Amino acid sequence: MTKTLRDMAVEVLRTADGREKTAISRKHAATWFSARKSGAQLPIGNCTPPDRPARPAQPELLDPRDVPRRRPGTPQGRAAILHAIAHIELNAVDLHWDLVARFPEIDMPVGFFDDWVKAADEESKHFNLICDCLEQLNSHYGAMAAHAGMWRAAEDTAHDILGRLAVVPMVLEARGLDVTPGMIQIFKQAREDKTVDALEVIYAEEVGHVAYGSKWFNFLCGRQGLDPQPVFLDLVRRYFHSPLKPPFNEEKRAQAGLPPDFYWPLTEPA
Ligand SMILES: [Fe+2]
Ligand SMILES: [Fe+2]
Repeated sequence: MTKTLRDMAVEVLRTADGREKTAISRKHAATWFSARKSGAQLPIGNCTPPDRPARPAQPELLDPRDVPRRRPGTPQGRAAILHAIAHIELNAVDLHWDLVARFPEIDMPVGFFDDWVKAADEESKHFNLICDCLEQLNSHYGAMAAHAGMWRAAEDTAHDILGRLAVVPMVLEARGLDVTPGMIQIFKQAREDKTVDALEVIYAEEVGHVAYGSKWFNFLCGRQGLDPQPVFLDLVRRYFHSPLKPPFNEEKRAQAGLPPDFYWPLTEPA
């Protein structure tokens, strides 16, 4: 029997090891897109994703306050930054496959699935690129503690697709656009070219993920006759529990379809 897209999503979510998860993710993305290209689209299907994705035994997950601070001036500090990025990328793989699998009751155009499968495939590549850089520094994913609670946004919005799109691509991934140029600078100064190249790939592709978020958020609001901006502010205040931090990368946010009135009002507690 042919696997459905949602079967494939759940298979990724249930795989614990990072390299293995990303290999399966990339394989399934390739299968989805080659079927799309040949005109024989795979069925979307219907199956229940796990509440939490499978994760490897290491890294140990700690409360963000207990994760040691990173000093970018040392190789160990830079390895710690890379470890934190790898952790974010691995979560992002699961977040995008979860979005593919999670909301079967909402009928979405096939382009919605194309976008999130592509995003998941890119996150898988990002995880591998960053792991390669970490290994060059004689470290690896799992060698340090990482933030617990990265899945909180997914749990909080498990029954609200608009909330999910608002918080994950349009707040969390948009934040990535704000902070990545500073990280690229750190690795440029350290002359770690391979990492600079990896971060440039991530920076370019993340604009697309934020744009997919804003595209489908606007689509769903339009389908319900809702004004996207007040709905967005309301959802972020409900599900994201702290004010947004400037400075913002206004240029890249604009490129991703995120206008200033979607974030400036959220810099202050409601
Ligand atoms: Fe990424
Ligand atoms: Fe992303």
